[in-house]
Amino acid sequence: MKFFIDTANLDQIREAQELGVLDGVTTNPSLMAKEGITGKDNILKHYVDICNIVEGDVSAEVVATDLAGMIKEGEELAELHEQIVVKIPMIKDGVKALKYFSDKGIRTNCTLVFSAGQALLAAKAGATYVSPFLGRLDDISTDGLNLISEIRLIYDNYAFETQILAASIRHTMHVIDCAKIGADVMTGPLSSIEGLLKHPLTDIGLAKFLEDYKKGNS
Ligand code: E4P
Repeated sequence: MKFFIDTANLDQIREAQELGVLDGVTTNPSLMAKEGITGKDNILKHYVDICNIVEGDVSAEVVATDLAGMIKEGEELAELHEQIVVKIPMIKDGVKALKYFSDKGIRTNCTLVFSAGQALLAAKAGATYVSPFLGRLDDISTDGLNLISEIRLIYDNYAFETQILAASIRHTMHVIDCAKIGADVMTGPLSSIEGLLKHPLTDIGLAKFLEDYKKGNS
């Protein structure tokens, strides 16, 4: 399972990278705005800064919603750095853009996916990644994990190569549940990754080991 961090915050990306388990980064226009990154030149530079911190894929989202606009923006993003994956929304022209980029060998991440049908279309169009937003489904009392299971079943039925990128992860249990289902990738905040290492018995056990060591070596 690949671990992506879902942020545009360079400090958090560095921290996750230093942990040694990071495989990539996802961003979106809201996450860029949250970091105060505005204006096309600054946004493009920020993507390159992120690519220079991590070794894996970095999703950069188009803001155009028409085919010609998505193609122009996506090509510009893809040329920025070899690690860039063009993030395309699940809309009609987005499906066409996925097919266009797939034919050109440009990697894509189909975002804002909320149904198995949308995920099927994304795979048919050749998306590299599909991003079902499980947290946002949970937010409206719909079972987000069930969607991940449905997509896993469909993709396995037909051996689609599109990778399931479980997005909108909110906490560590989402990560664990997605790993059980067989999501290829998870993207979430730093807390969802760091939360995996916490267990009170580890802390209690380590304190006791150190205490006993001191007793025998003082
Ligand atoms: C995915 O690529 C999105 O950036 C993200 O996971 C959305 O998460 P949110 O629902 O917490 O905003």
